[in-house]
Amino acid sequence: MIELEVDLGGLRLKGPVLAASGTFGYGTEVPLLDRSKLAGMVSKGIFLRPRTGTPPARIVETPSGMLNAIGLQGPGVDALIRDYAPLWASWAFPVFVNLNAESIEEYGELTARLDGVPGVAGFEVNISCPNVDQGGMYFGNDPVAAGRVTAAVRRRTKLPVWVKLTPMVTDIGVVARSVEAEGADALCAVNTFVGMSIDLNSRRPRLANRTGGLSGPAIRPLAVHLAHQAARAVRIPVVGVGGIVSAEDALEFLVAGCAAVQVGTATFIDGGAIARVHDGIAAYLASNGFESLEELPRYLPRD
Ligand SMILES: Cc1cc2nc3c(=O)[nH]c(=O)nc-3n(C[C@H](O)[C@H](O)[C@H](O)COP(=O)(O)O)c2cc1C
Repeated sequence: MIELEVDLGGLRLKGPVLAASGTFGYGTEVPLLDRSKLAGMVSKGIFLRPRTGTPPARIVETPSGMLNAIGLQGPGVDALIRDYAPLWASWAFPVFVNLNAESIEEYGELTARLDGVPGVAGFEVNISCPNVDQGGMYFGNDPVAAGRVTAAVRRRTKLPVWVKLTPMVTDIGVVARSVEAEGADALCAVNTFVGMSIDLNSRRPRLANRTGGLSGPAIRPLAVHLAHQAARAVRIPVVGVGGIVSAEDALEFLVAGCAAVQVGTATFIDGGAIARVHDGIAAYLASNGFESLEELPRYLPRD
């Protein structure tokens, strides 16, 4: 029996594989999936108030990936507390809420509303959404703003605070350090890359939003590099995310210095992706003579 438990900044998870935000809904939309291997789930992004998101088309397939521009459609925090959190409270894995706001004050207000609500295990602060006009990636692009958002959330909760970083920066280490200094318990690296696809019949962008976030295997080597750079820059754990389909993909992130991983787009193709990745990590460790994930050697030269 291989020990796959993970310590994420003081939080014990039963395994290293979580469901990434926006690809698992609020957990209720995927009732048939095998959740026994799921270490945790991050909810779809939520704002204080309901949002309709962007008009269609919102999704375009691309080589080895997809572009999405959902625009953080969601029911708002009151509906989340009323309709979803009570269900989460009875689930066997922790649910993190993906926080979104248009101002630093609003991030704080949203955290205060959710802090102490049964079923909410912690927060993933999204400062990296490429598909909203106000807020989103703007905060993640600027190390000072990223630090301020983190501080605003940190002040209002003792629950674990993770911050989700954007890949659309020159030096992810600078943002990572700023967020760490303001009290984040862990980092998630990375959100989607901004991309664009053109329809040659209409000679217009395929997405109504013009641009979207690129995810899936197409981004994996970029994401591994950025997660590695973030892990080199900080002492807090980094959760790797971007293009993971197989256990080997996840292991690349883990060896590159991540403490855990999130699986997103792969779930759209294979509902059993998370369980498959979990089992494959255990099989790799066993066949390489390791008894636990902790024993896996990491490649993490420090700056
Ligand atoms: C349809 C869709 C919706 C997403 N919504 C969110 C979101 O609400 N908040 C967030 O932080 N990330 C969101 N993401 C980004 C994913 O959580 C993840 O960071 C990204 O897709 C890269 O991982 P993947 O290649 O495994 O999908 C979304 C991704 C997709 C494909």
